[in-house]
Amino acid sequence: MKSVLVLYHSRSGHTARVARRIWETVIAEGNQADMMSVMEADREGVQWDKYDLFIVGCPVLYGTYPKVFYNFLAKFKNELDAKPHSFFNVSVVARTPIKATPEGNRYMQKFLQNSPWKPRDVKCIAGKVDYPNWGWLDAKMIQLIMKMTKGPTSMDAVIDYTDWEDVKSYARHCLTLS
Ligand SMILES: Cc1cc2nc3c(=O)[nH]c(=O)nc-3n(C[C@H](O)[C@H](O)[C@H](O)COP(=O)(O)O)c2cc1C
Repeated sequence: MKSVLVLYHSRSGHTARVARRIWETVIAEGNQADMMSVMEADREGVQWDKYDLFIVGCPVLYGTYPKVFYNFLAKFKNELDAKPHSFFNVSVVARTPIKATPEGNRYMQKFLQNSPWKPRDVKCIAGKVDYPNWGWLDAKMIQLIMKMTKGPTSMDAVIDYTDWEDVKSYARHCLTLS
């Protein structure tokens, strides 16, 4: 039995749902698991030595990752590195198969270049388009990005691109890391 910590950042809640599916799968496979947002982990502290595996996730927002997330990684990169681990990003570009690979996903390449923590295992997960839930300015900005990338542009579009079975497979894959 492994003890696993799932850490995530989420702006609109979708990465939190992905993290929860990973957490549930890890438990369903007979392991112990906790789940924390990076903000909670930073404020409340983490008992790093309690865990055998860390799974860390963050959405791509405007082509990059939030400062709060990078700051967390800079602060705790040694703790994360000390155990088996995996990093997943969530983006809508990953709705196309080629951009769902670490090599074909420029945001993953950017992460591997810029992140203070260099994870040894990575995964790209397709996220959610949710115009009604996004603020007006965000929705307008993303609509522009979608026009350029031939994605959905209707302001009432809600499309979940996440392959939830693949998320479960990813969680099981993480359990094999050593
Ligand atoms: C403000 C904002 C900016 C985004 N920028 C990008 C982007 O540059 N590239 C992309 O592929 N997806 C982008 N997305 C899509 C998100 O990565 C996707 O909706 C993800 O599911 C959001 O996760 P969250 O709900 O945990 O924040 C953006 C979404 C928002 C709300």
